[in-house]
Amino acid sequence: MKLALGVTGGVAAYKAAELVRRLQNEKLDVQVVMTRAAQEFITPLTFAALTGQKVITDIFATAGSGPANVESAIEHIAVAQRIDLLLVAPATADILGKFAHGIAEDFLSTLYLATKAPVVVAPAMNVNMWEHPATQQNLTALRARGVHVVDPDEGYLACGMTGAGRLAATESIVKKVCEVLGLRHDFTGQTVLVTAGPTCESLDPVRFLTNRSSGKMGYALAEAAHRRGARVILVSGPTDLKIPQGVDWVPVRSTEQMQRSVLERAREANVAIMAAAVSDFRPAAEQDKKIKRGDGTFTLELEPTPDILAELGREKGNRILVGFAAETNNVAENARGKLLRKAADMIVANDVTQAGAGFDTDTNIVTLFLRDGRELALPQLNKFDVANRILDQVLDIQKHSK
Ligand code: PMT
Repeated sequence: MKLALGVTGGVAAYKAAELVRRLQNEKLDVQVVMTRAAQEFITPLTFAALTGQKVITDIFATAGSGPANVESAIEHIAVAQRIDLLLVAPATADILGKFAHGIAEDFLSTLYLATKAPVVVAPAMNVNMWEHPATQQNLTALRARGVHVVDPDEGYLACGMTGAGRLAATESIVKKVCEVLGLRHDFTGQTVLVTAGPTCESLDPVRFLTNRSSGKMGYALAEAAHRRGARVILVSGPTDLKIPQGVDWVPVRSTEQMQRSVLERAREANVAIMAAAVSDFRPAAEQDKKIKRGDGTFTLELEPTPDILAELGREKGNRILVGFAAETNNVAENARGKLLRKAADMIVANDVTQAGAGFDTDTNIVTLFLRDGRELALPQLNKFDVANRILDQVLDIQKHSK
């Protein structure tokens, strides 16, 4: 995963070098961005040596109007899209003010506006500057916007005063970064198989039956399980999504292909989560020539596809099996029925008629149906958070089945 570390101009800038090392220990790829003031305290060379990457020091890194300069002028957009998190440590009162007021006058403040990645700031400054209402109001505004703040420690400050303003301990900053990124180690040693996306069933060489699944729910599960330390096998129908890094990605198209891959790869997995929207029917016969338009109506004969989840349920063993239920009515009744019929440990039910739930949305609204009869209704959450709640529940089932 990629992280941009913004280093701003304070005495604590030297501590950012140690921070880089600790972030790298968490397998994070660190791109350092320095403000001009930061370069008065520590050189870009130190960070370049630690990261093996060019340090970004200015929005217009090269002079003139040639292609190289155009490239550097739009680099903040490229970096903004590439990163999974923006961390600023140490963050001066000046950069907090710029972030709070949307002032984009150097690379770092521009990056803040351009990125959709989560932002963590670790302020460090003189105690009076820290306590000043201007700084505190800026922090309140940033917190309200979802920026995570690692409060400074109290103690002896470089300016000779004592009080709050010392950059938080490296470990506290790393802990917050891991928390925000969902990097935990609670799935280490486990292999999680996830299905995602739609399946496509061909009618003829140019037409197929499919559904509205974007794959977002399944990919979020794969990403979350990977970040929590699991080995992940992602069996995916066709989607437009980026293949998550570090995940064993198995592309499939039809239900039959998904069935084959899932049954084969499930042998390696101790957890299987079936988020794919699998076709329940397929054309009884696939035509090898394009079906021609006739004068009358056209009747298509469909046959049922294999139920992959039910098949896994029949050879379940100790594997934790999680199915989904995409419902438009009688959600609870249908979900409970699937839980029993498919021998699953949990069914994640979503009412796909609800706004903000189901197909091709960034959020989902789900209820988790468990074998002990519990029903856990979750609020509307982004799919990554839903994924983590499902994984939390998997751990809970494992804990209680020991
Ligand atoms: O991909 P997104 O756009 O993010 O949308 C997410 C989602 C709506 C696809 C997801 O939240 C979801 O509900 N996935 C399951 C969709 C579905 O096929 O539901 P179902 O109720 O028809 O199937 C029940 C379960 O059986 C599912 O786990 C399904 O993967 C599995 N199944 C279904 C049919 C079949 N032939 N084989 C199966 O294994």
